[in-house]
Amino acid sequence: MADIIDGRAVARELDEQTAKAVQAMVDAGMTRPGLAVVLVGNDPASEVYVGRKIKGCEKTGIRSFEHRLSKNTTQDALLTLIARLNADPEVHGILVQVPLPDHIDTGVVLGAIHPDKDVDGFHPVNVGRLSTGTGGIVPCTPLGVTKLLDTVIDDMTGLDVVVIGKSNIVGKPIAMLLLEREATVTVTHIETKNLSDLCRKADVIIAAAGAPELVKGYWVKPGAVIIDVGITRRKTEDGKVKLVGDVAFDEVQHARAVTPVPGGVGPMTIACLLANTVQAAREAQEGGKAHAFASSEWDLLPDRSMIFDKNDD
Ligand code: GUN
Repeated sequence: MADIIDGRAVARELDEQTAKAVQAMVDAGMTRPGLAVVLVGNDPASEVYVGRKIKGCEKTGIRSFEHRLSKNTTQDALLTLIARLNADPEVHGILVQVPLPDHIDTGVVLGAIHPDKDVDGFHPVNVGRLSTGTGGIVPCTPLGVTKLLDTVIDDMTGLDVVVIGKSNIVGKPIAMLLLEREATVTVTHIETKNLSDLCRKADVIIAAAGAPELVKGYWVKPGAVIIDVGITRRKTEDGKVKLVGDVAFDEVQHARAVTPVPGGVGPMTIACLLANTVQAAREAQEGGKAHAFASSEWDLLPDRSMIFDKNDD
């Protein structure tokens, strides 16, 4: 049987560290870390995620500032709010929940968040910092994936990793993070030829394609480590809803370790968001790190509208 990587337990530990870090900042006379969460409209899944983020703030002592806007909010009104939050010294992190309504350009909105408050790590400046290994805020799900890998692999040097999925917010940043760890990373997607053959050679498979049970047992080499980022709601025959990952979990028990769905990567995403908020608050108050690409240059970028591929996998 494969070992189960318990994302809930790892997230709990990270939350404890975050809570201690918050308290240490307050004890040192610093401003309590603050996270602004912006939700436009009332997409039910987004409501659930935002609720969890606010609850996570309460649990760790982070101040939360909730902004719930109607689905008819204009892009200009949203940009005005972001400008206000960018200038607010009590707000160290800004999260605009996506998807946004169709009349709003997601790339423009996310590009308007100051990179030093971009706790999602979606801003082109932070993407650039990650790609060049020059610090910055790392997207939450990829960061969570590396923390889960750390629980089972001491050293990634030279390991063959196959990432399935090339999204800007999961697949690509995971590849960057693991390249920094000297792994040999192959980024694939659902159109990749011979995907099963590539996977069968991998020491680590990271499945983030949003394709339920794509990775079959015969795709997995004995002893491999599997991280399943996928999460799809599937109706069962008795009308209930079951969450299904990108990996056929029951077929991969010859792996060394695997994350379950739910209870694997999911809980790590919020824990990493909270940790990122504390990092941003600390850097804002300690004068920040020296970045190769300074944030003061961010508003000189010619084009801030690049972030999201709407259909990326
Ligand atoms: N919608 C689903 N996941 C996320 C996330 O990690 N960040 C934001 N901003 N929106 C999301």
